[in-house]
Amino acid sequence: MAVEGRYNFPAPAKLNRFLHVLGQREDGYHELQSVFQLIGLEDSVGLQVDSQSPKISLQEPEGLTCGVENLAYRAARALQEFRGCSLGARIQLHKHIPVGAGLGGGSSDAATVLVGLNQLWQLDCDEQELLQLGQQLGSDVPFFIHGKNAWVTGTGNELVDMKLPETWFLLVYPGVEVSTGQVFQHADLTRDTPAVTIARFSESTEGLDSLNNDLERVVFSLFPEVQSAKNWLSQWGTAKMSGSGSCLFLDVGSEQNGQTLLRQVPENWTGYLIPSLSSSSLHGELQNYRVQT
Ligand code: C5P
Repeated sequence: MAVEGRYNFPAPAKLNRFLHVLGQREDGYHELQSVFQLIGLEDSVGLQVDSQSPKISLQEPEGLTCGVENLAYRAARALQEFRGCSLGARIQLHKHIPVGAGLGGGSSDAATVLVGLNQLWQLDCDEQELLQLGQQLGSDVPFFIHGKNAWVTGTGNELVDMKLPETWFLLVYPGVEVSTGQVFQHADLTRDTPAVTIARFSESTEGLDSLNNDLERVVFSLFPEVQSAKNWLSQWGTAKMSGSGSCLFLDVGSEQNGQTLLRQVPENWTGYLIPSLSSSSLHGELQNYRVQT
C-alpha cells in the first residue's frame, strides 16, 4: 500500500570545506579527498504518489527545463525500475539552492527523491541499496542519502562520518553557472595533490583552513568573476570555493558576526547567511513523517 497525500521533503546543500584532486582513474573520474559539510540552505521537494499509473511527472521552477534529464526525475525512474514498482509520482521542485554553484543542489534533490519515494511507495529499500542507486546518478548523491557530515574519498562515494563544530557561513554566489565536467576535464587541472590523513582533523577543524580547493585555479581562469568574489570575501578570513564553484564561502562563527558582512555583499552577487547542520534535515523530516503515518 502506497502512502496517499502530498509531502514536502527538504534537500539541504553542502559545502566542500576543502577539495583535493589526487589523481585520475582510467574511466576518467578523479580520486578526491574532501570534507563535506551539510548546511541549512535547502530546496524543497514535493512528492505525491500516483497509484493509477506508473507515470513520473516533474514540475520544475521557471528557468530550469531539464525535464527527463533532471537528476530528480532520473532518481525516481531508477528506483521504480530497481523494484519493478508500478506506482507513479508527481515531483515538484522548489529551488532555493543556486544552480551550478558547487553546493550539490541537484544531487541533494535526487537523494531526497530516492529516500522520499522509498517511503511513500513503501519499497523498504535499505540504505545500501539506495546508496548504490545514488552513486549511479552522480558522485555527490550518496553523501546526501547518508545525510551526515563526512570525510569523503574515492570519487566522492567513500564516506566516513565526521563531527564538525556548529557554525555559520557567509556564502557569496557570483551569478556564474559552472559545469563540473568542464572543470574536471580541463587540461590545466592539477591532479597530483598528496593524500592527507583523516587523523589530522579528528580533534579540531583548524587544519581545514590550511587545505585548498584544487579546482579553484581552473574555475578562476574560466570565470574571473569567481576570483573577484573570492578576493572580496577573503578580506575577512579564509574564503574558499565549494566544489566546482561558483559559490564561495567563509566560516563566520556566528549569525551575529555574519549579519554585518552580509549587508556589505556587492549588489551584483547574492549573499546567504546559513547555519551548519550536524545531520541532514531530510532525515529529521523523515522521523516526523514516520510518526504521523
Ligand atoms: O558524478 P557527477 O555526474 O556529479 O560528475 C559530473 C562530472 O564531473 C563527471 O562527468 C566527471 O567529468 C567529473 N567528475 C570527475 N571525478 C569525480 C567526480 C566528477 O571527473 N570524482
